[in-house]
Order: sequence, then C-alpha cells, then structure tokens
Amino acid sequence: MTTFDQIVPIAIEELNAHSEVVAQLDWLLINRDLNGRVRFIVSDSITASNEQHKQIKDLYRSLAERITPHAYPVDAGILFEAEREHASQGTAIFGLAGFDNVWVIDRLASESQWEAIAEVSPGAPRIVFFSIKGGVGRSTALAASSWALAKQGKSVLVLDLDLESPGLSSALLPSERQPKYGITDWLVEDLVDNGDALIKDLFATSDLSTAGQIYLVPAHGSDPGEYVSKLGRVWMPKTNGRTHPEAWSLRLNRLVNHLESLIRPDVILIDSRAGIDEVAAACVTDLGAHTVLMFAIQGQQTWTGYRALFSHWQQRGVITEIRNRLQLVAGLVPDDERRLEYLAAIRADSYQLFEDTYDVVEPGAISDWSFEGVDDNAPHAPLPIRWNRGWYGLLSLQQRMLQVDENEVRAIYGGLLDFLDRALVQENQT
Ligand SMILES: Nc1ncnc2c1ncn2[C@@H]1O[C@H](COP(=O)(O)OP(=O)(O)OP(=O)(O)O)[C@@H](O)[C@H]1O
Ligand SMILES: [Mg+2]
Repeated sequence: MTTFDQIVPIAIEELNAHSEVVAQLDWLLINRDLNGRVRFIVSDSITASNEQHKQIKDLYRSLAERITPHAYPVDAGILFEAEREHASQGTAIFGLAGFDNVWVIDRLASESQWEAIAEVSPGAPRIVFFSIKGGVGRSTALAASSWALAKQGKSVLVLDLDLESPGLSSALLPSERQPKYGITDWLVEDLVDNGDALIKDLFATSDLSTAGQIYLVPAHGSDPGEYVSKLGRVWMPKTNGRTHPEAWSLRLNRLVNHLESLIRPDVILIDSRAGIDEVAAACVTDLGAHTVLMFAIQGQQTWTGYRALFSHWQQRGVITEIRNRLQLVAGLVPDDERRLEYLAAIRADSYQLFEDTYDVVEPGAISDWSFEGVDDNAPHAPLPIRWNRGWYGLLSLQQRMLQVDENEVRAIYGGLLDFLDRALVQENQT
C-alpha cells in the first residue's frame, strides 16, 4: 500500500530511473491535488513530438503504478500548459530534490503557507509569541513583556491573534476599557471595504502605570457579537473588485501596517495561536516577524510538533531564512531543585531540533552566537520562564498586572526580558 508520504520519494526514484527523459523536458510539474492525487503538467510543445509524448506517458505510467491510489489513469494523468508560471499560479511550489527542471505543486485545502517567509518588516520589530502546544504560559509572558517594555518608556502595540481562543485583551484591559471592535471584526468588514471605518475603535490603551503606553488590539470587541459566524469568514481571500484575490494573511498584514502607521509603536508583540494552524502560519511567516519566540515545555509532544515544522521548512529550502528569527523559550520551568535538570533536558532536545540546520550557513554577521550546544546566545538555548505560585491559575491577570512587582517579574521573566532588550537595541543600531 502506498500512502501520501511516499509520493515524493517514489517520484524521485522514478525520475532518476528515467533521467534521460526528464533531461529533455523544459520543465515538469508534479501536481499533488487537493485529494493528494498526482498529475504531471508539462509544456504543450511536447505534443508536437510523438516520441516525447510517448516517453512522458511511459514515465507517468511507471510512477502511477507505484503510487496507486494517489494517481490517475494514464490518459487523465498528464496535463499540458503553455507556461510553467501559469500552471503554478497562487499555489505552494517547491523544487524536487536533485532536479533543476522539476517542481512539485502542492494544492492545500487550507490557506496556510508555512514556507512563504515574508521579509522582516522594516518598521517596528514584530515579535511573535508562538507555541506548538497551548497552555504553556505564552500569553502571560506576552503581558509581562509588554508591561516591562512600557515601563522602560517604550510604546508597545499588542495584537491578540489567538482568534479561536482569545483572552489576552482581558489580561491587559479592564472590561470598561475594551474597545468596541476587534481583529475579527476588521477582517470581516474588510471583505466589503468597510475595515477602515472601524480602525479607530479597534484598540485601547491599558491603565497600567507605565512610562510608555500599551496599545491593545483584541481578537473581538467589548461585545463579541456573532463571533462564531465572523470567525468562519476571517480566512476569506478578498475578491471585491479584484482580478487576483488577496489572501487573508495579506489582508492581516495590511491591518498591522495600518495600525502601525496610526500608533507608531516602538515594538509590536503578537500573541499567535498555538500549533500548526492557519493563524499561526500567518503570524510566524507572513507578518514579517523580527523574532519568533517558540515556547516549549518538556515532553515529547512539543518536539514532535516542532520537528514536523522544521522538516517542512527544510524540504522547502527556507529553514535558514526562518531559523535566523527563531528563539526557544522554556515555559513553566519548575521553581525547585528540578529546575536545572529540567532546563538541561529542554536544551538537549532543542539542540537536537536545531542541530541539523546549523551546518547550512554560518551565523549572521551581526549575531553573537555560534553553533555550539553550550552557547547561551544561540537560538536553541532556552530562555527560562520560571513557574511561580503567584502567577498560577490567576482569576484575573489584569488585577495581577495592576499590583505587579518589578523584582518578581524580573525573577520569573528576566531571561526573556533581557533577550528582548538585546534584540531591540541591536535593531536600533542597524
Ligand atoms: N510563570 C508562571 N507561573 C505559574 N503559572 C503560570 C505562569 N505563566 C502562566 N501561568 C499559568 O498557566 C496557565 C496558562 O497560561 P497562559 O494562558 O499564559 O498560557 P498560553 O500558552 O497562552 O495558553 P493558551 O494556549 O491557552 O493561549 C494559566 O493558568 C496561567 O495563570
Ligand atoms: Mg494564550
């Protein structure tokens, strides 16, 4: 029996076995459709040559026999197109390892594109708080970071993009300060060109006493309204009057740019959704993140998920590009004698995850870290966040933040805060 995962390795074997046929082609696209079935797309100039036409049919036949049920009958398995670009428009595409004229087109039912890494946004650094599993203290760490940065006089823009389980806004704003609308409203209104009308009611400032201001953009407004119905529409590409639909992640980026130009923050903190999820993909890869904080707690589940992401980035040839922005954070580190052992275990697993990516390119010229496992400045070296009784199972994080003690925040979040300081200082120097 052949399953989806064997399509690419078998295709590589078959194409190698027929390398003289492949070499004669201008280009070959291996189209993996929405059902995971494979077709070839080749240049229509091939139909002019009976010989070449027959060769490509034979090649498809021998592949199809091996990947059934992920193939079509030979006569339905080959499509012809004048232009390669035309055949692959708007879809994920990656080169097939070992061939310079063969690409795989991957058509997905979801909009998420983990491999299209947007360039770092030129404005205020965007720091994404991401985790593969939920409940690891990500949002709490974001609230504490925004407080600490604002305390230093920085203007901080905070976006709650955990749209499917929002909560950050209630952590930073008392209910009477919640803005009327949220990100979900903007994404829905934008579909009918009505987004800008509510932009001024999309954010509110926190009442924490800090030198700098914290501007919070919640997932939903003070009255969530028909939240479920709106949520089901946020992923919509925008077609309204356009020839090419605008992907929802581009719409989201447009929103962040707009908010940035209105508020002019020094830094933007983004609470991403957990997991290999559509919103998370947008936060990690589409918003021009300066840094992606990867929260981890010890346990197999964390690493299985991160490994799946890393291997995808490796296959698509973008691992180095994204790795330069990643930083591991160890959440909920035990506050007792197990602490060092716990951190050592996370560090070992984290190094194993990053190790494979370290021989590709030297660390960046401005970075001050090496590929060594022991290097504390390397992205695999976990920034520890300490578990603290006072922060556990809070009824109201907002109440907690109002009476927060600076020393306590440093004791719990010091490693993360120092990292953010370094990252932002470096940013100002470049
Ligand atoms: N440093 C800490 N010490 C002790 N408990 C903490 C700490 N940080 C967070 N918690 C607690 O852990 C739980 C999860 O925290 P939080 O909501 O910040 O996690 P999350 O990763 O954002 O979760 P989700 O995936 O649900 O959004 C909460 O009950 C919170 O009070
Ligand atoms: Mg959260």
